Amino acid sequence: MNNIERRGTKLLNAVESLCVSFIEYKGVFYRLLHPRPTILLITLCPGDRVNAMPASWNLPISEEPPTIGVAVYREAFTYQCLNHHPEATINIPSIDQVDLIYQLGSVSGKDVDKIREFQIQLVPSDVIKVPTWRDAIAVYETRVMNRLDVGESTLFVFEVLKVKVKPGIADEWSIDFSKTNIPLHGAGRVFYRVDPRKVFARKSLK
Ligand SMILES: Cc1cc2nc3c(=O)[nH]c(=O)nc-3n(C[C@H](O)[C@H](O)[C@H](O)COP(=O)(O)O)c2cc1C
Repeated sequence: MNNIERRGTKLLNAVESLCVSFIEYKGVFYRLLHPRPTILLITLCPGDRVNAMPASWNLPISEEPPTIGVAVYREAFTYQCLNHHPEATINIPSIDQVDLIYQLGSVSGKDVDKIREFQIQLVPSDVIKVPTWRDAIAVYETRVMNRLDVGESTLFVFEVLKVKVKPGIADEWSIDFSKTNIPLHGAGRVFYRVDPRKVFARKSLK
């Protein structure tokens, strides 16, 4: 590229950057960070009850130790349950269970025994007292390791003690999305599925 071409390219870039514009987003700020994988958080509650709450504000935090963060609204019954017993199972639903997941997120364990009302089938976990959802496609058995109050929510940091998956639906890299799918929460009643087609990034931009 000679000098004239270089100047031309610079000028073109300057003009292009003047043309690029953003507009202020009028929706709730987090909507642009959705859709998000939804989990079902199962806890042990006062009065020997079990509770189940869907949560899409969840994220792996560290590998060593293995941890997962979940933001829990402090008004939720789940918050009381985690204070009562600091363990939880983080259950991964399949997309076929989306109606149930939505319902479980629309009522509180403060008002309804959701396990009985929605006939949630539970099985014993391996290393913690909190049961596992029998119909999950995968489950993490966890213990509360840390917490951080932020606004109206508390970010619970769960240490992962055991990870289990139903046979034949995952390899060491991921869930096999040609065999099953998971609910990605959009907004309200809207969920998405994972497109099983893989997009491989090039190793280099050159
Ligand atoms: C798909 C979905 C995702 C949700 N994600 C969260 C979340 O990440 N954190 C949260 O506090 N509430 C979340 N909610 C709302 C709770 O599930 C809802 O408040 C529930 O009634 C709380 O149950 P509990 O009071 O029995 O604990 C979500 C609801 C739905 C339907």
